[in-house]
Amino acid sequence: MNFTTLGEFILDEQKHFPGSSGDLSSILSSIRLAGKIVSQQINKAGLAKHIIGAAGSENIQGEQQQKLDVYADDRFIKSLRARGLVCGIASEENDDFVAVDENKDAKYIIMIDPLDGSSNIDVNVSVGTIFSVYRRISPVGTTVTTEDFLQPGREQVAAGYIIYGSSTMLVYTTGNGVNGFTYDPGIGVFFLSHPDMVSPDSGSIYSMNDSNIDYCQRGIKRYIEYCRSEENDKGKPYSARYIGSLVADFHRNLLRGGIYIYPATQSAPNGKLRLLYECNPIAFLAEQAGGKATTGVQRIMDIEPNELHQRVPIIVGSKDMVEKAESYLTE
Ligand code: AHG
Ligand code: MN
Ligand code: MN
Repeated sequence: MNFTTLGEFILDEQKHFPGSSGDLSSILSSIRLAGKIVSQQINKAGLAKHIIGAAGSENIQGEQQQKLDVYADDRFIKSLRARGLVCGIASEENDDFVAVDENKDAKYIIMIDPLDGSSNIDVNVSVGTIFSVYRRISPVGTTVTTEDFLQPGREQVAAGYIIYGSSTMLVYTTGNGVNGFTYDPGIGVFFLSHPDMVSPDSGSIYSMNDSNIDYCQRGIKRYIEYCRSEENDKGKPYSARYIGSLVADFHRNLLRGGIYIYPATQSAPNGKLRLLYECNPIAFLAEQAGGKATTGVQRIMDIEPNELHQRVPIIVGSKDMVEKAESYLTE
């Protein structure tokens, strides 16, 4: 067993940036803390009426909020605010960003999907949290503006996710590869369990909501037919695996090799997943692990965002598989 803890690892990484203020390290530490609290709640979700079921409200995107969406949102925002290190927070669950004016001197803003896969909470299936950190553009000492949040994904300084699965894991990057930490709930510590995570160049898993297949563009449909065919590169049909929590689907594919697709459809011409809270951080992790993330025609991290809750189609995962899918879209 590797006894390096997440706390030690974060401090060690900071040493590679001489003169750094340590603010980024402290942001990661506050995510770690909120993650522990949310993890503990999720583990007893079936017993806890205050976190199971619908909250009776809708978010800005017209989606039913679950009690745990609201709970996790609150936890992460409080934890991040409390340390005085972020001057702005945008969350999938809130209409607009929160300007943290008591921290006007902070350098960083953060974006979060506090609870990803919330339709899975009540049925005891893996869910997650996704986060993404950027340097602010507006001058230090002023109130953050929309421009601070509408930065392309390539400007991310850190991104990661927590997966609340058969165990809780935190996986993150600061642009020097990807590392994964598994939570030991007995002692309340994340240990480095997956150092230097590398995405296999290829695999035999495809992940897409099957009911979208007749409503997406022809190239995607043809690529899925390729995945299902004996004529593919593996000489036998790939396995279909779709959990319905992006974090869990991406995590499995990162470990095993695979491709995840959420395409544009007739009813959702920009796909479903959110560029700032879901696609950019997942794309940063994918690329840092040697994988790829694209809309089909453009690298996800090169998209210039034009609104906070913007959605984009996404194809992400093992490099060769994503490139193969792209070839069906451009021919
Ligand atoms: P969220 O719970 O944060 O709204 O995200 C749900 C997302 C994503 O996690 C998942 O991959 C996708 O929605 C599933 O959508 P479908 O049910 O349309 O397949
Ligand atoms: Mn989500
Ligand atoms: Mn969510």
